[in-house]
Amino acid sequence: MSLLITGGTGYIGSHTVVELLNAGDDVVVVDNLSNSSTKSLDRVEQITGKRPVFIKADICDKQAMQDVFSTYDIDTVIHFAGLKAVGESTQMPLEYYHNNVTGTLVLLDVMKQFDVKKLVFSSSATVYGEHNVSPLVESMPTSATNPYGQTKLMIEHILFDLANSDADWSIISLRYFNPIGAHVSGLIGENPNGIPNNLLPFVAQVAVGRLPQLSVFGDDYDTIDGTGVRDYIHVVDLATAHLKAVAALSKVNGCMAINVGTGNGTSVLQIVNKFKEVSGVDIAYQISPRRPGDIATVFANADLANEFLHWHAERDLDDMIRDTWRWQSQNPNGFE
Ligand code: NAD
Ligand code: UFG
Repeated sequence: MSLLITGGTGYIGSHTVVELLNAGDDVVVVDNLSNSSTKSLDRVEQITGKRPVFIKADICDKQAMQDVFSTYDIDTVIHFAGLKAVGESTQMPLEYYHNNVTGTLVLLDVMKQFDVKKLVFSSSATVYGEHNVSPLVESMPTSATNPYGQTKLMIEHILFDLANSDADWSIISLRYFNPIGAHVSGLIGENPNGIPNNLLPFVAQVAVGRLPQLSVFGDDYDTIDGTGVRDYIHVVDLATAHLKAVAALSKVNGCMAINVGTGNGTSVLQIVNKFKEVSGVDIAYQISPRRPGDIATVFANADLANEFLHWHAERDLDDMIRDTWRWQSQNPNGFE
């Protein structure tokens, strides 16, 4: 029996593949390499001594997905594959809806055809929209403010409807907060194309001299120091949450959404100062206007993950920043 990991050469996928291989699982990775390369799997092999099966395929390609399911004895799917840049999604909505929503529909159709009905899906805290007050709880109303967020919300609706229609499905939708950090080896990490949109890769690239300075988007929010507060979670803790979720699928009849965060909020300036402390490098920054669509504070209530998955975040902010810095300083140009 194998686990199929869509998007397994990407940032969160590659860290999860490491944990699965270390746990002795058989892993089949499908990725179209639109935002990654197989170099991450070379590094996964360096870390674990094992190489997962890799198939270059697009999840929208039904024939290719059918070939995967007929070739390998797939038992469970962890579905990471998707486009994820919020700003880009507002410029290219059709590509985002097609890739994320159609891709998921094709995957689900093929899973159904092959009677594979266990799924862990990569959702996002973005589904809480802008009106809920943190700590965010799974029972709160959901909404979306951009096409990327809409795709995550639509997919969650599809998963709930599917599970309601057929009791054989067991689905967990993990709502990630802000994944950062890298594997402790420094061999794999986040490798964004072009100028990073997210805070940590941006700060890390300032630290290695690839970018001149950080723009801090707003210092007049109602937060500890006026800058935005988020729930940063170490990518390896996030990876282990997937293993716990796979194990918990046997307890799930239907579809469940579960937050994966630490429950702690950290501001932009706290991140900048911590990065300076850990790396010894000064991070040049300027205060800039607020970024449209941003909200002041987002952090999780992580009780359900703690109780239902028996999962707790084990790594603190020092670990997250130290591991980000190790990855970035050892690989200033990513996998190149
Ligand atoms: P990533 O871009 O590093 O990984 C996604 C992978 O999916 C890439 O390797 C890409 O090549 C692949 N992919 C995209 N479309 C595909 C398709 N049609 N067919 C096959 N492969 C395809 O991103 P990540 O940060 O590892 O994110 C993984 C998942 O987690 C995504 O679904 C993302 O939306 C979700 N998520 C990420 C964050 C975050 O901050 N990183 C937060 C919440 C949710
Ligand atoms: N920030 C800056 N400067 C930057 C980048 C970010 O000040 O150059 C600030 C933002 O304003 C925010 C914080 O840093 O206060 C974190 O921003 P990120 O872009 O790293 O993360 P977001 O919380 O905005 O977005 C992330 C994911 C989205 C997801 C969202 C909600 O990138 O995909 O969390 O889960 F939708």
